[in-house]
Amino acid sequence: MTSHYAATYAGWQHDPEAFWAQAAQGIDWFKPWDRVFAADEGIYGRWFSGAECNTCHNALDRHVANGRADQTAIIYDSPVTGQKRNISYREMLEEVEALAAVMLDNGVTKGDRVIIYMPMVPEAAVAMLACARIGAVHSVVFGGFAAHELATRIDDAKPVMIIAASCGIEPNRVVPYQDMLDKAISEASHKVPHCIILQRPQHGHEPVPGRDIDYRSAVDAARGRHVPCTPVKATDPLYILYTSGTTGEPKGVVRDNGGHMVALTWSMKNVYGIEPGQVFWAASDVGWVVGHSYIIYAPLLYGATSVLFEGKPVGTPDAGTFWRVIAEHNVAVMFTAPTAIRAIKKEDADGAHVRKYDLSRLRALFLAGERADPDTVHWAENLLKCPVIDHWWQTETGWAIAANPLGLGLLETRYGSPTVSMPGYEIHVLDDEGHPVERGQLGNILIKLPLPPGCLPTLWNADERFRKSYLNEFPGYYKTADAGYMDHDGYLYIMARTDDIINVAGHRLSTGAMEEVLASHPDVAECAVLGIADALRGQVPCGLIVLKANIDRDPHEVEKECIAMVRDAIGPVAAFRLAITVKRLPKTRSGKILRSTIQKIADGEPWKMPATIDDPAILDEISAILRERHIGLAFA
Ligand code: COA
Ligand code: AMP
Repeated sequence: MTSHYAATYAGWQHDPEAFWAQAAQGIDWFKPWDRVFAADEGIYGRWFSGAECNTCHNALDRHVANGRADQTAIIYDSPVTGQKRNISYREMLEEVEALAAVMLDNGVTKGDRVIIYMPMVPEAAVAMLACARIGAVHSVVFGGFAAHELATRIDDAKPVMIIAASCGIEPNRVVPYQDMLDKAISEASHKVPHCIILQRPQHGHEPVPGRDIDYRSAVDAARGRHVPCTPVKATDPLYILYTSGTTGEPKGVVRDNGGHMVALTWSMKNVYGIEPGQVFWAASDVGWVVGHSYIIYAPLLYGATSVLFEGKPVGTPDAGTFWRVIAEHNVAVMFTAPTAIRAIKKEDADGAHVRKYDLSRLRALFLAGERADPDTVHWAENLLKCPVIDHWWQTETGWAIAANPLGLGLLETRYGSPTVSMPGYEIHVLDDEGHPVERGQLGNILIKLPLPPGCLPTLWNADERFRKSYLNEFPGYYKTADAGYMDHDGYLYIMARTDDIINVAGHRLSTGAMEEVLASHPDVAECAVLGIADALRGQVPCGLIVLKANIDRDPHEVEKECIAMVRDAIGPVAAFRLAITVKRLPKTRSGKILRSTIQKIADGEPWKMPATIDDPAILDEISAILRERHIGLAFA
């Protein structure tokens, strides 16, 4: 098939407003927009200014009214509990209306924030859509975070309600959410009046009188009540999703209603090549942006069927789970993180599990969250016999910046590249002084403003932080904080972050946040955390600590305490398992820690002794410790 990509991209460049106005035809609006793009509103302009709409109406009501009532909206497949359930659009709508009624009865109104702290259960989707229905702003918090992270989000979002489950289920343990919830609520200064708790049989939740409402009994009692969709402005917030910044304070990425619906609907057809009624599966978690965009909103807005999978690529029960789900539920297109495929490959290198299932209906596997390494892509292509497509985006953008668009017709694959910019995104690669670099040369990857519909208009209650983090350094551009290059044909190569964010098993984490935790250990004088290459998780954090001069303790004990502290403060998802005591940190004479040099040593990459190093011997010492402890790809 010839690709329509070039013509589509040129069409967008020629008249962006006409392009997005056309895409917006895929959405029901209660009131049409006054202006497709209002350059004088918001920080860099706003999309669909003056329009009114409701995201839940577009995700559920209109499909029920237009012949999809009995089509499956969500396939819940949970190998960790042994449950499988198909939920139709009609059933979703009923449950969402009932939960929305309970929320209204408990005082939640338009614009209020609601935190959702739930694992991969259908009720998480119901809670998100119930918020959208009544114009409340949800903020989903990933279950792998610790209580302190939840408390930070409570204090920033100031929710009037938390909707939680009694537990999450990891392959090796049940994760009781109540401990975390109670701890976070007591740590936060903002007080949350109500919690709605979904009791799961695997772990009970002891209700706090006056605070906790039982999800099941309240929703069952409200069943049959009709709650109309509250009209909201296209520019009103639909949700806040916190993501790692460069400090311990996460950034509250804001998503609006109108532009988000338009962009996601466009992407389902044109990027992922899905048609309404087909099955799409994003194997991620509702706590991440991939879960928001491609487990919940995009498939439902588009009238597709979405798989909500509560399990892992391996160990639930084996490395064939993904292939079983694809075959059993007729998945047409799948999306996951490269690390998940690496985990499967590690256990089933020859693909014995793959051959047990009929995967002939799978049209493509999309990968994102970290760079898709060519080995993993080749392995998956050979076994799945379909295109394996790397695409690049961020929590901030909410949908792909660069992809090989299946729906528009695939372009030639260049391994190691997420292919080309999507309509809406004009990418420039500039040096640190803001000058364009030659094609093929490494630089800062920037998006020319304005950002397209669906991308963040600002950070929650933090316009100045938004400007400072993304806009000020390169005026006229949004800074992706990714470094890379573009080749002569416009293919992008995303090579590294320019800040201290690392990507661990597709999870975005801040090394700065981990350093803050380590620095609070009473025996630690100084520390540095860096991401080192890992064959499974892409990167893992490695902490170097220097003990205070007067400390006479076994360094291994302090290291163990540091590991426990990070787990306790940030959560198990940080996968912080390496703390190493060193005599000094390698620094330049001006005091800058030489993180990238240590990283190169650990990764086995060529490195040069920096001319400005204060004490060259310390790098040899660190190298020896890494070798002795088999840390890093170079010494594993
Ligand atoms: N709730 C509670 N704990 C969680 C959790 C959750 N939702 N998710 C992860 N954790 C815990 C894990 O249990 C583990 O704890 P442990 O230290 O006690 O073993 C820890 O966090 C680290 O988890 P992870 O890095 O995910 O390691 P893993 O060994 O459990 O699994 C993979 C490795 C590669 C299989 C897994 O990370 C994976 O499936 N990654 C895909 C990620 C993804 O989909 N990202 C979304 C972007 S598309
Ligand atoms: P998150 O906000 O968690 O989605 O993480 C976004 C970051 O992950 C990006 O800024 C990149 O650093 C990285 N990332 C995501 N997808 C890709 C990809 N396909 N290739 C390279 N890096 C990626």
